[in-house]
Amino acid sequence: MATIKACLFDLDGVIVDTAKFHYQAWKTLADGLNIDFTEHDNERLKGVSRMRSLEIILEIGGVTMPEAEQVTLATRKNEVYLEDVQRMTEADVLPGVRRFLEECRAAGLKTALGSASKNARLILERVQLLSLFDAVVDGTDVANAKPDPEVFLKGAEMLGVAPEECVVFEDAVAGVEAARNGGMHCIGVGDASILSDADFVIPGFEEMTVARLQELR
Ligand code: BG6
Ligand code: MG
Repeated sequence: MATIKACLFDLDGVIVDTAKFHYQAWKTLADGLNIDFTEHDNERLKGVSRMRSLEIILEIGGVTMPEAEQVTLATRKNEVYLEDVQRMTEADVLPGVRRFLEECRAAGLKTALGSASKNARLILERVQLLSLFDAVVDGTDVANAKPDPEVFLKGAEMLGVAPEECVVFEDAVAGVEAARNGGMHCIGVGDASILSDADFVIPGFEEMTVARLQELR
């Protein structure tokens, strides 16, 4: 049985359902460029940085443009996205997440956020979860995007916990790979057929308990 001392959480799709806001904002941008961008395509953007997300959309549409123009478009997308974020409240935390975080802390486990998003701290503040994290590592703190393990390794280091004593909760394939590449345990959140590299997959946090961490090997 594994000794777990810390739980590390992805943000988008694990703690809050912001994937739909990202999709709507990218869809608006793609429509403006006459690029047919579907919800299926959107799966490829999960866990991926803002600029890489735009590159993928441009690739789908076969569109090329100078980098400066790409930066302008990505900035505009973020403004549209933030309109939705500003409306978020405590009620937008996914079911069971707050209770599980509190249970972790009561059990003496450390908690950290490991997200590609540059908006992570803002979102945690909006939904009033910031105080439940011992460490926050986001898109402004790392040079290498998932599946590189940097975001999770940095979180573990800030907590003073060894990678093999950490479990990562992730909804994206790139995020599960990042946890694996960092030598950490990983519990997938979502679809078991997509997140097949995780130790096990939960549909959400409603049934998740600290006791279930004993299932990790
Ligand atoms: C990840 C999301 O958490 O953050 C991606 O899964 C998103 O979809 C990425 O592109 C970057 O987010 P932001 O908020 O910095 O644009
Ligand atoms: Mg995610």
